[in-house]
Amino acid sequence: MSEIHPNVKRVLYSADDIKNRVQEIGKQITNDYKDSKDLVLIGILKGSFMFMSDLVRSINLPKTNVTLDFMAISSYGHSTNSSGVVRILMDLKSNIEGKDVIIVEDIIDSGLTLNHLVELLGSRKPNSLHTAVLLRKKDGIKIDVPCRYIGFDIPMVFIIGYGLDFAENYRELPYLGELREECYKK
Ligand code: PRP
Ligand code: MG
Ligand code: MN
Repeated sequence: MSEIHPNVKRVLYSADDIKNRVQEIGKQITNDYKDSKDLVLIGILKGSFMFMSDLVRSINLPKTNVTLDFMAISSYGHSTNSSGVVRILMDLKSNIEGKDVIIVEDIIDSGLTLNHLVELLGSRKPNSLHTAVLLRKKDGIKIDVPCRYIGFDIPMVFIIGYGLDFAENYRELPYLGELREECYKK
């Protein structure tokens, strides 16, 4: 494996660990949606971009009209805690009415972001609405949001890599790592 970034305290999940888990989720989705007519996967930018791109490649639904869309929102800004205020920076391009929708998120921390998205997209009358989340911080949850597909339950540490940032950095790392405390605590 290539060098670990010096600001990473430890690797929680290697690129291989992630690949295996994402493939399992892809198989579950393939099985659950084999009778679906229209499936829209909605990636929540920016954090979900890597998970989204790997997940869609592990879905195999030749009889379904599979489409992708993206929404950009922000709740964290440049801090390490969710502000609870969800800002829509870019809305969907497509109409999801009558379609089966899966929201693809990188992480649930407080749950405020995903809860807000489920309410918002639910109001647009999809045929079904579910969520696929790579990481869940079980002890951080403030609002109970139903997640159909979960990659890993993780401890309350600051995670970076595989799309996840701290102040916009480290998204490019191919693994999920714990950020050294001295990098965000003063
Ligand atoms: C992060 C993460 C989730 C959300 C989770 O996004 O990608 O979308 O926060 O936090 P919550 O469960 O406490 O609401 P962020 O706002 O940092 O934007 P980003 O995806 O562009 O990094
Ligand atoms: Mg995000
Ligand atoms: Mn972020």
